[in-house]
Amino acid sequence: MTPDEIQGLVVEQYADHVNPYLAKLMNFAGFGVEVRGEGCEIIDQEGRRFLDCLGGYGVFSLGHRHPYVVDAVKRQLDEMPMSGKVFFNPVMGALAAKLAEISPEGLEFTFFSNSGAEAVEAALKFAKGATGRSKIISTEGSYHGKTLGALSTTGREKYRKAFYPLMPGPEFVPFGDFDAMAHAVDDQTAAVIIEPIQGEGGIHLAPEGYLTHIRNLCDKHGALMIADEVQTGMGRTGKMFGCDHEGVCPDLMPLAKALGGGVMPIGATMGTAAVWEKIYSINPLAHTSTFGGNPLACAAGLAAIEVIENEGLAHQAEVRGELLINELKKVQAKHTDLISEVRGRGLMIGVEFAMDEVGELAMAQMTKRGLIAAYTLNNPRVIRFEPPLIISEEQIQFAAQTFDEAVSEVEEVLGALV
Ligand SMILES: Cc1ncc(COP(=O)(O)O)c(C=O)c1O
Repeated sequence: MTPDEIQGLVVEQYADHVNPYLAKLMNFAGFGVEVRGEGCEIIDQEGRRFLDCLGGYGVFSLGHRHPYVVDAVKRQLDEMPMSGKVFFNPVMGALAAKLAEISPEGLEFTFFSNSGAEAVEAALKFAKGATGRSKIISTEGSYHGKTLGALSTTGREKYRKAFYPLMPGPEFVPFGDFDAMAHAVDDQTAAVIIEPIQGEGGIHLAPEGYLTHIRNLCDKHGALMIADEVQTGMGRTGKMFGCDHEGVCPDLMPLAKALGGGVMPIGATMGTAAVWEKIYSINPLAHTSTFGGNPLACAAGLAAIEVIENEGLAHQAEVRGELLINELKKVQAKHTDLISEVRGRGLMIGVEFAMDEVGELAMAQMTKRGLIAAYTLNNPRVIRFEPPLIISEEQIQFAAQTFDEAVSEVEEVLGALV
């Protein structure tokens, strides 16, 4: 088949059998068909290479097909890919122990699932079960997933409104507002769910002391703190976990995305001994998942953590993140009318435009030039850069230069319109 025939076939299959409306949008944006991933690049059906600065929304911290993770998964494939679910699963045990070792002290246990939303669902359920309360405090603009429970705590009306009534209990306060949080948390509160950096909300960093404030409020009122590290975890922000920047230990911590090393899907909900006792001591099967903790995903998780530790990728995220932020700020200085802010921590970076439409136009121009980035789900004004933590300095220069060219092109088009 020619590249055009491949594109035509896949678009048709999407249109007829996956999601016709999404197919139309993607085709209109000029997106091709992915056929191979290699390091920081995605290669399409025409053999064109794209620098992946979206990184699968944070999945590809180790890049695409990291050889160490691929080898670990291949070895596991030849031994036992799926658990028989009756005997002890040694790979799951090993990953749970490793996670307890690297996470904030106090998080000793892990429940495994297959995605971020599932990891959040478990955290919400555990918080309700452990406290006997139902009130959950979340933040405006937050993103915790789209399954019914997770969606109930996701702070964007656009995704919620067609599905009411959702899980009762969640209330929303402005992200980063200390007083509003203090006002909301009370003796009826089961949990506060918070992202250390709001990802889909537009890359908003928690102000200094905010996580500690939430920890203290939860302690005062007997509520649990859920730190959703699905996107911020595994070195992305310059430390292993976003909470580590403030030395805060939550009671529950959902993980997913990069934990699978960019090779396997995995979700994990970490928690304290106190929570586990409340949930599992009466019924050891209180919360389970058939595929959760499968040996393939756990082998990928163990290998991914080894790579992050051995290659010092959290530190690398900090250093390369500073470089990318500086380069993007230079681009901002050339286009102050269009770019209002560059912000981020580690390699979780957002560029905010002055107008909604610019993000989409710039994104299309970047893709045309071989650079993949995308706007954040809850805030189309913000384009996010979340490249693999292994991105080289040359690739960072390419990203900044291509972004500059894309914005210049948009500027010209908009200039011609007025
Ligand atoms: C902070 C956060 N929580 C939860 C999720 C949901 O994860 P998933 O898409 O794997 O269900 C996401 C996904 O972007 C996320 O960023």
